[in-house]
Amino acid sequence: SVQARIEDLLSRMTLPEKVGQLLMLDAQHGDLADIVSVKLAGSVLHVSPDLMPQAMELARQTRLGIPLLTADDGIHGHSFWPGATIFPTQLAMACTWDPALLRRVARAAATEIAATGIHGTFSPVLCITRDLRWGRINETFGEDPFLIGELGAAMVRGYQGEGLGDPTAVLAYAKHFAGYSETLGGRDASEADLSPRKLRSWFLPPFEEAVRAGCRGFMLGYQSIDGVPITANQWLLNDVLKGEWGFTGTLVTDWDNVGRMVYDQRTCADYVEAAAVAVNSGNDLIMATPAFFEGAQEAVARGLVEEKQIDDAVRRVLRLKFELGLFEDPRTPDPERQAQVIGCRAHADLNLETARRSLVLLRNDGVLPLEGGLTSDGTGRAASRGNPRTIAVIGPNADSTEAMLGDWAGATGQVPWMPEGHPRELVETVLDGLRAVVPADWTVTHSRGADIESPTDESGWSLGPDGQPQPDAFTPAPVDQAQLREAAAAAEAADYAVVVVGDTIALAGEVRSTATLDLQGGQIALLDAVAATGTPMIVVLAQSKPSTLPDSALNAAALVEAFNPGMCGGRAVAELLLGLIEPSGRLPVSFARHVGQQPVFYNQVRGQHGNRYADLTQDPLFAFGEGLTYTTVTYSDLVVHDHDVPADGTVDATVRLTNSGSRPALETVQAYISDLTTSVTWAGQELKGFTQVEIPPGESLDVRIGIPASQCSLVTADNRRVVEPGEFALRVGPSSRREQQLSADFRIRT
Ligand code: IFM
Repeated sequence: SVQARIEDLLSRMTLPEKVGQLLMLDAQHGDLADIVSVKLAGSVLHVSPDLMPQAMELARQTRLGIPLLTADDGIHGHSFWPGATIFPTQLAMACTWDPALLRRVARAAATEIAATGIHGTFSPVLCITRDLRWGRINETFGEDPFLIGELGAAMVRGYQGEGLGDPTAVLAYAKHFAGYSETLGGRDASEADLSPRKLRSWFLPPFEEAVRAGCRGFMLGYQSIDGVPITANQWLLNDVLKGEWGFTGTLVTDWDNVGRMVYDQRTCADYVEAAAVAVNSGNDLIMATPAFFEGAQEAVARGLVEEKQIDDAVRRVLRLKFELGLFEDPRTPDPERQAQVIGCRAHADLNLETARRSLVLLRNDGVLPLEGGLTSDGTGRAASRGNPRTIAVIGPNADSTEAMLGDWAGATGQVPWMPEGHPRELVETVLDGLRAVVPADWTVTHSRGADIESPTDESGWSLGPDGQPQPDAFTPAPVDQAQLREAAAAAEAADYAVVVVGDTIALAGEVRSTATLDLQGGQIALLDAVAATGTPMIVVLAQSKPSTLPDSALNAAALVEAFNPGMCGGRAVAELLLGLIEPSGRLPVSFARHVGQQPVFYNQVRGQHGNRYADLTQDPLFAFGEGLTYTTVTYSDLVVHDHDVPADGTVDATVRLTNSGSRPALETVQAYISDLTTSVTWAGQELKGFTQVEIPPGESLDVRIGIPASQCSLVTADNRRVVEPGEFALRVGPSSRREQQLSADFRIRT
């Protein structure tokens, strides 16, 4: 049996071999032969494609020939492979509110990743969006634990396929466990102010859902909680994850977390102590800390950690390698398979489908769809109606491949072996998309109009006013009057101005938090200048996270949120503007009116005084769940079928939806629960169910809602998740905005 094989191996392993199995070293930092043959690392990350076969062969040649485990960041597609399918970012995908679709995305990504010899991906991210200044908002599924849990579980199932033994499956490392996103001031990896109760209330449920979905890997965050580095958090790692939840997979630290306890967080005097703390706290794989090799051996010698603790972690790592079938097939890169699956037609189609579903229409004075909506000519282009129009496509992100792909997409400079990023011809920008899709007799003009960042040098550092590089500092571009005049002239000469603004990857990702949420560089001046021309302005936001917006954007004829919509994003935007597809995306995150409104998430705990500022409402600019369509859907007749629900029963309700417009709708029906009186202060409402229905124009349909009463729970003052019997309200509507919801009361009995 596998267990017997694990025990047999363990009995033959020396301490250095055991410690080596716990090491996951970064192939970009060090010599491969030293990593695999000397430090005996059993796992590697960030291996360039040319070195992968060599890395696996070196492992095969070690004394016991234990196969190498490889992992990388396939975050929204295979981030580190030229030409791989790059899907919308996680935040953009979350706008689809479609777990089944995301499962297919993860399945497709897994087949591309697996073909390149990578066995695990550091995805999905199950962190909760809180302060929008945090640089990693784009990597999340937004702010709601229930939605994150549903989407995250779907991606885990997609990555891991029918089981890890399937050669097209990759191990999912759900991350970052746990509470990493509760930053101070949005600053990355700051101390998180989190009580165990707060963790259990909002931050842990998506991870628990991932365990239920069979997730076999977890990755830590970087932060500390209440004085304890996450790497040393015995309660979270041992007691909750491995104990309470029965997680039997492997837990990997984040990048050099063990070292950071020595030189950043300074809770350990040296690497020996840090190694002992990491193992004793329940970490199985130690990422990117080469000194763990000597440190852990010395820790055993000094009695700081018992060898049986090391054995326990080694067992988990070996079990994983058996589950993946690596002892029988080390899953080396497969060039034939790569040629079949990487960037294949089926994945491109799925990518376009996902991008279409991810776009969120936020404002529309009726200008969209353009010309009342066009139809396809059968080739993907809109059919001509014999009334040629001119569209001016303006803005720094109008023709930016980076804005389509976002972070973790091998952009220039991010990956050493992909100096040029993904091939240009694989990415359709909004400009490309409009050129490809407008009727043949329309004209598309282009004007950049503004820059976001000052020029950068070859390593990507902004050049300051003195022309010198500013390491790690973003320098906004100044307003360029000549560019502005040219853009305004282009808008004036056009029937419509499509202005694509947002941010760049210099403002997104790890250690890239921002102090402001404003559109940077010359973008606000650009929006003002185009608005002043009077040409109907459609603003498209191609950005990593919600920006705060100037009045010119808020009063534009239409506003579309695209986030980073992936390789096919530009085409999807063009199709949406022309009415070839229907808008159906819904926000997974609330938008702030002002940076000072942070955090602005919808499921805030009830307070006194209405949670207001004296100088600003706490009402978000756009709320969680919001998103318009090209038609009108009304909600009526919400009926709860049995008002008296047993604690082990289901809240069973029906609501009627009517599409009174002239276009089809794909409606996301959202069900929120309010617990009316609670023993502790609790969220005013929480999403507990959602379903998507297609409604043809002029038709009505009844939608059934079933919410297990067990979902109507809260976390008590003594940290227990319970359902408190009593009065509840079911609130159903198209968003978290109370004024758009219908409400019906019910009670849960003991
Ligand atoms: O997976 C990432 C993680 O999200 C942040 N630190 C580095 C890891 C490996 O690249």
